[in-house]
Amino acid sequence: MPVKPGPPPPIPPLRPPETVRISSANVHKTLTFTQYTDEDKQLPEISTLIKQQLSEPYSIFTYRYFLNQWPQLTFLVYSSGDEDYDGMGKCIGTVVCKLDDHRGSFRGYVAMLVVAPEARKLGLGSMLVERALEVMHEMGADECVLEAESTNIGALKLYENLGFIRDKRLRRYYLSGTDAFRLKLCFPLVDGEDPRTKNRVDEEFI
Ligand SMILES: CC(C)(COP(=O)(O)OP(=O)(O)OC[C@H]1O[C@@H](n2cnc3c(N)ncnc32)[C@H](O)[C@@H]1OP(=O)(O)O)[C@@H](O)C(=O)NCCC(=O)NCCS
Repeated sequence: MPVKPGPPPPIPPLRPPETVRISSANVHKTLTFTQYTDEDKQLPEISTLIKQQLSEPYSIFTYRYFLNQWPQLTFLVYSSGDEDYDGMGKCIGTVVCKLDDHRGSFRGYVAMLVVAPEARKLGLGSMLVERALEVMHEMGADECVLEAESTNIGALKLYENLGFIRDKRLRRYYLSGTDAFRLKLCFPLVDGEDPRTKNRVDEEFI
């Protein structure tokens, strides 16, 4: 039976800040994960990190497009062992995502992911993406996609560890001329229930 997307599911309430302690051989950090709530403080933190680490330039309008529409799908991580701001610590990583209708399914999209160089390979990138995926799933996402440079071994490994698969190769996708891989994750159904029938309205009844 043909189905048409119904209204998107309600936005889940913001999560309280979450404190996580990580310890490895010579690194001990207290981390705080939070969702995006404050343009004055957090937009500059996000844009500074991203400008320093990603090859593609983004304008303030691109940041606002994502952050104002899907604040609950942007996570920041602060380290309180470092320089202190407002008692939260220094922002050392962020993930920025969205979720909207794509040809009749709810598709999440990871737009940006960055971890500061001094905090890499400690699991922070994975923890940021996991939290964004959890919220996407709560919001009824069927799948999540993103693009990663075909040469970005770290990012490809991170996403493949989380269950993403390579869906397509996009030739000369970046301004630099590098190819991208489109990566895709299909979410499992919630408790055996098909979110497509939960969130959509049969066309016959419209
Ligand atoms: C990609 C990036 C976000 C990874 O962050 P991170 O916090 O270091 O990632 P994690 O510690 O969660 O690593 C997850 C997995 O990827 C692997 N990995 C991460 N960086 C790697 C690298 N440079 N080379 C090889 N593997 C790497 C880790 O080993 C880990 O796998 P394992 O658990 O099997 O060892 C970070 O390197 C970064 O900010 N890079 C610059 C921006 C960027 O490329 N963003 C992604 C755009 S698609």
